[in-house]
Amino acid sequence: MSKSPDFPTILLVTGWATAATVAAFIFASTGQKAAEPAPAPVVKPAETAAAPAPDPAPAPDPAPAVAEAEPARAAPVAEPAASATPVSLADIKPLGLGRAALPEEIEAWDVAVLPDGTGLPVGSGDVETGDEVFGERCAACHGDFAEGIDSWPVLAGGAGSLTDPRPVKTIGSYWPYLSTVFDYIHRSMPFGEAQTLSVDETYAITAFLLYSNGIVEDDFVLSNENFTSIVMPNAEGFYVDDRPVTEYPLFSAAPCMENCRSAAPQVTKRAVELNVTPMDPDGKPAGTLPVITLAATGTASDPATAEAAPATETAAAPEAMAEPAPVELAEATPAPAEAAAEPAAATGDAGDLALVAEGEKVFRKCASCHKVGDGAKNGVGPVLNGIVGAPMARVEGFAYSATLADMGAKGGVWDAAALQAFLENPKGYVKGTKMSFAGLKKPEERDAVIAYLGTLK
Ligand code: HEC
Ligand code: HEC
Repeated sequence: MSKSPDFPTILLVTGWATAATVAAFIFASTGQKAAEPAPAPVVKPAETAAAPAPDPAPAPDPAPAVAEAEPARAAPVAEPAASATPVSLADIKPLGLGRAALPEEIEAWDVAVLPDGTGLPVGSGDVETGDEVFGERCAACHGDFAEGIDSWPVLAGGAGSLTDPRPVKTIGSYWPYLSTVFDYIHRSMPFGEAQTLSVDETYAITAFLLYSNGIVEDDFVLSNENFTSIVMPNAEGFYVDDRPVTEYPLFSAAPCMENCRSAAPQVTKRAVELNVTPMDPDGKPAGTLPVITLAATGTASDPATAEAAPATETAAAPEAMAEPAPVELAEATPAPAEAAAEPAAATGDAGDLALVAEGEKVFRKCASCHKVGDGAKNGVGPVLNGIVGAPMARVEGFAYSATLADMGAKGGVWDAAALQAFLENPKGYVKGTKMSFAGLKKPEERDAVIAYLGTLK
């Protein structure tokens, strides 16, 4: 292998990271490790001189690692060290397992590309082609625009977010070298079909990802010739781990084991006087992360205030005020706690009808899976006639998820509160539910669809 060990390999840390780790990017210099086989454990100092010399006499497969490990096992543990007979490597017979890797096998495996361009295969690809290939091979998981689908990694955007409490780490916002993009994709993507991309396709996808991160224009063509001219936005955001120099001496000083204090300790402060749990300006414990789902829907900034929110919102938004509480539900079911808190008194019949009509529209989102009305049959989801106030998982012949079936067996009932919770977050309310539906995030939509469901007997 001919790779230069000059460039540290970045440890790509996925998953959440605290702001602190963003500041302390860690570098591990593994170039060298990859280039040289790990030294085999040395058995006896006397033998080391003999060890490296390849033995020309025996079989072509020397299996050295195994052979060298052998004497250690052979040496009887109980025997005093002085009497142990030194074992010569010449005495050790290879086990005859495996064979040496062929040069072309090593070549096929050795696909590393380094930041200075070492290892780049000859080839090229443009943004447009990359867009097409990405659409076919990658978009199912990473999104058409590399924005990431569900929890598959997002590959574009996030610029300037690295110091946020929840940084969005992408190729554009985080990765310091383009070589990592090429190498990673060529080596390991598409997920489950690694190394099925051609070199040119990999160049094209890399060009497309540069484009989707706003680093190049849409007419850009990437090749092994111009590859190293691309400077990634976060190239300067890493530093080499200096802890062996800066921190190790602090930990390795000889510890004091006796008479370490010259006088008895003095109490200088009491914990109550210390601000041991500092507050952020919003009055929450420092570093409390925003609640993403609520913040994103603009419903409320905090679960604690979520309950109070509908009331204040109603006052602020006139059209929301027109939306009455699901009075029908309240009649049909044991009055849910929520209904009491809402301005039920303000509801009139006209309001009801408008709400039900609204709910019928919302129900279009459900209609592909749920049938309602006379003669309705189970589809992907069960028939929903008379669902409001009905026992959970009651439709005969429908194969419910184990969780929902269990909730039904335990006497669970689809009252307004249960429907609200389930429709807001199906997977959160019924763990492992078969209903693959993201949920209705808007309270108005939930109110409306529940009112509509309440009319279906
Ligand atoms: C079946 C789903 C799937 C497909 C298709 C797929 N990927 Fe991935 N991709 C993943 C997963 C899962 C990860 C995270 C792997 C890990 O962390 O070990 C990932 C990670 C990545 C990363 C690293 C992201 C990061 O920030 O760490 C890149 C770059 C990438 N994929 C590019 C591609 C490209 C280009 C294609 C198409 C050629 C592709 N992927 C196709 C699922 C997929
Ligand atoms: C992608 C298909 C799909 C969509 C869309 C969908 N559902 Fe469902 N729904 C299901 C499935 C499947 C179940 C059974 C869940 C289980 O067993 O865990 C279900 C169960 C339910 C139940 C419980 C039924 C019972 O008998 O216990 C209700 C209530 C419900 N859905 C309402 C809705 C509403 C309202 C919508 C639209 C806002 C909706 N669903 C959208 C597939 C869907």
